Amino acid sequence: MASNKRKPLFAGNWKMNHVPREAAAVAGAVLAGIGDRDDVQAVLAPTFVSIPAVVEVLRGSPVSVAGQNCHWESSGAFTGEVTAEMLKAAGCSHVILGHSERRQFFGETDETVKWRFAAAHRAGLSPIVCVGETLAEREARRTLDVIERQLLFALSAANREQALRTVIAYEPVWAIGTGKVATPGQAQEAHAFLRKLLANRFDEAVAAQVRILYGGSVKPDNIAELMAQPDIDGALIGGASLKPESFLGIVQNGRRA
Ligand code: PGA
Repeated sequence: MASNKRKPLFAGNWKMNHVPREAAAVAGAVLAGIGDRDDVQAVLAPTFVSIPAVVEVLRGSPVSVAGQNCHWESSGAFTGEVTAEMLKAAGCSHVILGHSERRQFFGETDETVKWRFAAAHRAGLSPIVCVGETLAEREARRTLDVIERQLLFALSAANREQALRTVIAYEPVWAIGTGKVATPGQAQEAHAFLRKLLANRFDEAVAAQVRILYGGSVKPDNIAELMAQPDIDGALIGGASLKPESFLGIVQNGRRA
């Protein structure tokens, strides 16, 4: 499948790091480094309280802002939660959903990811839906079953238009924050499989357009071989996105040949 029609997307997931002042400084440096390049799309996901500071710095620029999660309701008595509409109103265009840390530490399930997915689209946000197997699941040869279940569940109520505005991130849990990156072959196998699921669930055109990012210990020195794979369209980057130099190094080295 021709991969070069999909614009590479590099998303920095800052997790629980960077107070507003630091976040604004990193966003400013990223913006300066990206300049007016339009061959890649960059997205930064600050912690909720730092979103306004980052939006301010990036206003009118090609670098977009994402929330790291959202609730499925549009208002109500849900102490500590943030709605998709709030993220949109604060200036976000994207929201990360179903990150493995949310699933592991905060009890998120396939079902709530599906509800959050609907909420994101209702608010006009593009979800970045994360799927990925644990080490035990990979060793039990259940990788493809797990990511199939996660993807199809999240998209089970989605229509074609929503699918086209969705980004998928394949993040093997054993590779997140561990320094252990999936081999390009392991990642490509998962990405090709996810793309085939999109073709079966929707159609070939959807499968050809949706970006599938790889995530898990992406660094400036391993992104090129990942991006050389036909079905890898960019990366969701945790640790290496915290400093502008390494995020920009990934964007630079991840350029399509
Ligand atoms: P990492 O995190 O790059 O630090 O492995 C990736 C992620 O959690 O999205």
